[in-house]
Amino acid sequence: MKQIDRLRSLGLFDARVPRYTSYPTAPVFTPQVGATDQAQALAALDPDVPVSVYIHIPFCERLCWFCACRTQGTQTLAPVESYIGTLEQELALLKDTLPPGLRMGRMHWGGGTPTILPPALIHRLAQAVKAVIPPTEDCEFSVEIDPTMVDRAKIAALAAEGMNRASIGIQDFDPVVQEAIGRLQPFDVTRACVEDLRAAGIHSLNADLVYGLPHQDAARLNDTVAKVLELAPDRIALFGYAHVPWMSKRQKLIDEATLPHEVERYQLAELAARRFAEAGFDSIGIDHFARPDDGLALAARTGHLRRNFQGYVDDRCATLIGLGASSISRLPTGFVQNAPATPAYVQRIEAGDLAGARGHVMTGDDLLRARAIEMIMCDFRLDLDALREEFGPEADGLRGEMTRAAERFGDLVTLGDDTLAIPPEGRALTRMVARLFDGYTPDGARYSQAS
Ligand SMILES: C[S@@+](CC[C@H](N)C(=O)[O-])C[C@H]1O[C@@H](n2cnc3c(N)ncnc32)[C@H](O)[C@@H]1O
Ligand code: SF4
Repeated sequence: MKQIDRLRSLGLFDARVPRYTSYPTAPVFTPQVGATDQAQALAALDPDVPVSVYIHIPFCERLCWFCACRTQGTQTLAPVESYIGTLEQELALLKDTLPPGLRMGRMHWGGGTPTILPPALIHRLAQAVKAVIPPTEDCEFSVEIDPTMVDRAKIAALAAEGMNRASIGIQDFDPVVQEAIGRLQPFDVTRACVEDLRAAGIHSLNADLVYGLPHQDAARLNDTVAKVLELAPDRIALFGYAHVPWMSKRQKLIDEATLPHEVERYQLAELAARRFAEAGFDSIGIDHFARPDDGLALAARTGHLRRNFQGYVDDRCATLIGLGASSISRLPTGFVQNAPATPAYVQRIEAGDLAGARGHVMTGDDLLRARAIEMIMCDFRLDLDALREEFGPEADGLRGEMTRAAERFGDLVTLGDDTLAIPPEGRALTRMVARLFDGYTPDGARYSQAS
């Protein structure tokens, strides 16, 4: 049977499964866990262990139709400036909560569009964070950059505050695709942005691409890949387009008849992956690529690749403190998400409380399954020996799921005495394999396509 027919018979093209950027996934979170749990967990952090910090900027000047990120449009800076004021208040609350001496090993600004901030607000925000959680010597500071919403002055401000990694949004360079997703972005503008970043001393660049977009076909994607390679990024994220109009209403502007069908989608992903491999990139997890000397590739080779809300990371900080509307913190006790809507977030902070609105307290079983799923998503290999070292004999409780995976996916997974591995020809099934180890089926949760 042809590979595509096998994948189809295994249900790949019909499956809707989580992307497992956390376990449990966000639909499992409940309002029973909130600001009080958040404050207790933050106060109990070990000040000698650096943390990661994520800051969400939920504003964009343009609202691209394909985008599923939590953001809102604005044509003026007034709401953005006011939001930075709220972030400063949130930081003041954190200062009263965190143990003195805590340092920051990583900081990431995402959105929305962090580069909507003018230089003065970039400095204000960066300095407010550093005043509360000072960076370690080798702190990595990365920012999501929209090439159409940035200039040299903003890049200089970010670099002066310590930005040493940048992630640029590209999606696709084809004008027909760009028009169909409501995001016009000329190649020249993107190239100029890359040159400005490099001139400012930012040498680590990631490029975000998306496959499965309207009107995308092999020729168009080939051309986009060639242009991306010309920009010589260190990392590439190639996300499958998540068409979730029930969550992201602006996606209703996308004509579903122009979306590539499931098999075409799969072939587009394969095509891009092949081109990146030929260009010398290592394949990382299900949807990232990195030059062999990049930190992500190194982490993948040495078993240190991790998965969090930003996707694949080489971040060793176990704790992630999320600031801003909708941000999720990963704390030693579990997850807490700030109020998702900006007005609700602002209201909580102005009332003098942390903004945690829902979350989940991890049980021992959650911790074990979270690590097992992370191993599958990062290493394509679940290793009971390693899990036993961390979790003791409880790890053997996963044997039933391992056997079920082998029964369900046949020789597209490899079952050993203590291991379950996914060989290259089964990699497209990774999220479905991970799903077998998920102990929750949240009511009403709807996920994006597995392929
Ligand atoms: C916060 S956004 C991008 C940052 C910046 N605002 C920009 O547009 O360049 C982060 C990334 O999420 C990805 N993304 C957004 N919506 C998506 C969707 N529906 N399916 C797959 N990936 C998506 C895109 O690749 C995007 O670059
Ligand atoms: S892709 Fe970027 S600019 Fe476009 S709506 Fe999403 S966050 Fe905003």
